[in-house]
Amino acid sequence: MRDIRQLPNGRILVSPSVLAADFGCLNAEIERVAAAGADLLHLDVMDGNFVPNISFGPPVIQSIRARSELLFDTHLMIRNPARYAAVFAKAGADHLTFHLESDDDPAQTIEAIRAAGCTVGISLKPATPPEAIFPWLDRIDLVLVMTVEPGFGGQRFMGDQMEKCAKIRREILHRKLAVHLEVDGGIDDKTVGIAARHGANMMVAGTAIFRYADGAEAAIRQLHAAGSELDKEVML
Ligand code: DX5
Ligand code: ZN
Repeated sequence: MRDIRQLPNGRILVSPSVLAADFGCLNAEIERVAAAGADLLHLDVMDGNFVPNISFGPPVIQSIRARSELLFDTHLMIRNPARYAAVFAKAGADHLTFHLESDDDPAQTIEAIRAAGCTVGISLKPATPPEAIFPWLDRIDLVLVMTVEPGFGGQRFMGDQMEKCAKIRREILHRKLAVHLEVDGGIDDKTVGIAARHGANMMVAGTAIFRYADGAEAAIRQLHAAGSELDKEVML
């Protein structure tokens, strides 16, 4: 069953971002990371408006859905997520994360995503404070803290986002919720441990998996290994 709520909160989950894949053979690239141990698949949708880049949309998701059983962790970097929720669900997305900074009303967007049958995530850009997510925490399944400015793969990890992660994880624990905390941008074998120590349990990585010299399996194994860092420091 492809339901993000069924995935354990207390161990590291790895979500390879196809943005770093070779789009000329996308299905083979997805099979490669699935065989290498990906827990879910991160799909970066960019509209050239909310972010200054254009990636792909529903038709691509529909094509890969027909050939993959992975849970599609869809990251909507678009201005009007409420308007498009049903379209992405129909294309085969299992989970939809939208940005709190998008144009649509968060309550309406959550409702539209639920009505479309998907689980719900909310993402925060680096400049958005952690407290901004607190009013929504009880109604969602995942918080995505951006550790780069959204729009492009291959950027440098922003360590100054870690205190935000820790604050959000503390609030999740305080309220006894089962919300996933995902980080996205510049995650690799060096930064993953820092993110885990600050309460992140779900790691998005594009470059560090698809372009890792020793192959995707070694890359994903190293990311999973950061599980030993979970629960260590900042939390509690
Ligand atoms: C950035 C995207 C990320 C990106 C991560 O806007 O949301 O998912 O693909 O790429 P890396 O892992 O290369 O930083
Ligand atoms: Zn992303």
